[in-house]
Amino acid sequence: MLYEEIVQQFVQRIQKGLQPPGSKLPSIRSLSQDLGCSKNTILKAYGELEKKHWIYSVPQSGYYVVEGGKSQGRPVDEHAHRIIDFQAAGPDRHAMPYRDFQHCINQAVERYKEEMFSYSDVQGLYSLRVQLARHLQGLQVFTVPERIFVVTGSQQALHLLLALPFPNAKHRVCVEQPTHPGMMESLRQLGISAVGIEVGEGGINLKRLEELFKHNDIKIFYTVTRFHNPTGCSHTNAARRKIVELAQRYDVYIVEDDYMGDLDTDAKSDPMFAFDPSGRVIYVKSFSKVMLPGLRLGLAVLPDELHESFTRAKSAADVHSPVLMQGALEIYLQSGMFDMHIERMRQLYSRKAALLQEAYRTWLTELASFSQAASGFYSTITLPAPLKAVQVAEHLKHKHVLVDPADRMYMAEAASNNVIRISVSQVKEEWIDEGVRMIAEATEELMGMRNQVRFV
Ligand SMILES: Cc1ncc(COP(=O)(O)O)c(C=O)c1O
Repeated sequence: MLYEEIVQQFVQRIQKGLQPPGSKLPSIRSLSQDLGCSKNTILKAYGELEKKHWIYSVPQSGYYVVEGGKSQGRPVDEHAHRIIDFQAAGPDRHAMPYRDFQHCINQAVERYKEEMFSYSDVQGLYSLRVQLARHLQGLQVFTVPERIFVVTGSQQALHLLLALPFPNAKHRVCVEQPTHPGMMESLRQLGISAVGIEVGEGGINLKRLEELFKHNDIKIFYTVTRFHNPTGCSHTNAARRKIVELAQRYDVYIVEDDYMGDLDTDAKSDPMFAFDPSGRVIYVKSFSKVMLPGLRLGLAVLPDELHESFTRAKSAADVHSPVLMQGALEIYLQSGMFDMHIERMRQLYSRKAALLQEAYRTWLTELASFSQAASGFYSTITLPAPLKAVQVAEHLKHKHVLVDPADRMYMAEAASNNVIRISVSQVKEEWIDEGVRMIAEATEELMGMRNQVRFV
């Protein structure tokens, strides 16, 4: 039997509801015996079904029918109902290890039942911090469990750090422009005075950064060093080293947000922490982009001088992060499942980034500028004047394409209202090109209408 025939049969079974969402497909061995064909043929057929997002695989478990969309048990004209969502900030839902993680949660309930009857360590479970320290070594972050704080999402670490007094007794915060909208909101909420420095395709102007550090009472420089949100750009190792030197010279602390560090395939890329592990660089990591945002788990590696004040701030905020989720993450890391998952995610997101860049070059080269990203979720498109991001987003919504105007990622004085953020995380690979084509089409349509429409 040909592998295409097997694919066809499964598609029909799924469409008719005979193989419902979440159900497990026969093992490769049993199906090859039943159909009298080689295991390679079955593997090829399952690979094809996975590529087309009918099914997903769970390492060491098997293949399952995906939830939602195609697999609702009836034939779907996917083009009729299609929404190309370049706005979603969560991970690719078809690639998430739900079942593996469910297994870890079940084990964690058993292992940590006693701990759940009382309050736990503010800093996080020690046994989890041991696993985190081990995992961080792979990211060139060498530290000890005693310096790691488990936080309720990395956003909590960022928010708490902004409000803490620092040993340098300075007050202002320097942020990249544009930057992570959560950081912008925390600055607004806490009423903290900030200065901005532009980042993007050309990197960062180190002379300007030095001037800012020298004259502006800078307590913290907040930087997203890899696959920046929203531009997708990464600093070079040379720039990272130089930024650390400047921070040392002018007594500035660096908060290095490495929210997508796990996705970096470049083994030579070092985080800023590696250039100064003494405490000058506070390393912050999220588990939301490579795992599940609903876990609400992240970590911060803190200098000894901030240990006590951060412990008090964290305790005042939420006492500690949920023990059950901490335990499940510990088991997930310890079992090696996390490493296997990350390997798949690296491949998935570098493939998506390559497809996106190709689509940009095909459709946008003459029309708009765009940022380049080798992996991660994000990149930005700068629209031609006089178009505004909000109007283009509105126009595209009617065509069922969602994009995110980046206004809120800028400080008011630097506001750039012609930039849109594109996230590929939840867009199917086969729709990336079409989505970018539609953005180009909408841009051209609005440019053609610019005498009729006022772009205020
Ligand atoms: C750059 C950056 N840092 C931190 C976060 C917050 O992540 P978490 O879900 O771990 O709080 C995000 C979320 O989008 C982000 O984009």
